[in-house]
Amino acid sequence: MSRNFNNELELKVKEIEKIICRYLPEEEGPAKTVKEAMNYSVLAGGKRLRPMLMQETFTMFGGQGELVYPFMAGIEMIHTYSLVHDDLPAMDNDLYRRGKKTTHAVYGETMGILAGDGLLNYAFETALKAFDIELSPSVVKAARILADKAGIHGMVGGQVVDIESENSEDVSLETIEFIHEHKTAALIEASMMIGAVLAGAGEAELKKTEQIGSDVGLAFQIQDDILDVTSTTEVLGKPVGSDDRNQKTTYVSLKGLDQAKADVERISNRALDLLNELPYENPFLYELIRKLISRRK
Ligand code: IPE
Ligand code: IPE
Ligand code: MG
Ligand code: MG
Ligand code: MG
Repeated sequence: MSRNFNNELELKVKEIEKIICRYLPEEEGPAKTVKEAMNYSVLAGGKRLRPMLMQETFTMFGGQGELVYPFMAGIEMIHTYSLVHDDLPAMDNDLYRRGKKTTHAVYGETMGILAGDGLLNYAFETALKAFDIELSPSVVKAARILADKAGIHGMVGGQVVDIESENSEDVSLETIEFIHEHKTAALIEASMMIGAVLAGAGEAELKKTEQIGSDVGLAFQIQDDILDVTSTTEVLGKPVGSDDRNQKTTYVSLKGLDQAKADVERISNRALDLLNELPYENPFLYELIRKLISRRK
């Protein structure tokens, strides 16, 4: 079972990377450098979790065909831009990502900023190519979810509070949960919701999907905080101890390692229970969320 899952996972990652590659910009013209920096960041690797959750949710709700492809590429571009900017000297100041030097370490800080800006806009340019496939209210709704969850109401909002909470003595659990819900869960919610919407899910199903994404995202960021303490740079492909160096209060520093681990399991199981309540099935998606509980990178 587990062996089959791992084989399937590997195949799916390869398929997703092919889809993403289709949409990447040609490295040509006077602004060639920024396109190189954008492609460097996207092609550096990564788990491709967000496009995978999107595609698996899409198929779970009965979606078929290529309508989801532009959004899969788009969400990975937004996620990658968030990492490029997160690693900048003004933010977490990290030099490794996805097992390689960070974008600003290779191309310089200015080009790091511009590559992030480029990816954010190009993500929407890409996602909106779904209109070439189908001019429907579902595509409009999916685009609105993407904009909403990536911006000040979502990921950007979470990053703001994350940065403002650095060096502070008394960051509450509520604040940490706000940060996790926004900086990380928002894009995971968007991934699953867009998959659902494009497959024709109704309002009630969409709400439930958002809740599942929220729990998956919260557990995912707690695990990220855990790995920042317990893992190694070799395994993670990014520096460990980054949170401590930046004097961040994390889920682990507030609740301790054991409680944090227990909460990853509890919150992930809550997501799995909700997933089981839906009148649809996708055993791979179920197993993927279950496996994230014990992920090591
Ligand atoms: C890293 O995300 C940033 C967080 C939200 C914790 P991932 O762990 O999904 O990074 P990649 O895409 O696999 O590199
Ligand atoms: C960042 O959280 C989440 C983003 C929106 C990029 P972290 O700062 O903990 O992510 P890593 O550990 O650098 O991947
Ligand atoms: Mg950060
Ligand atoms: Mg960081
Ligand atoms: Mg982290």
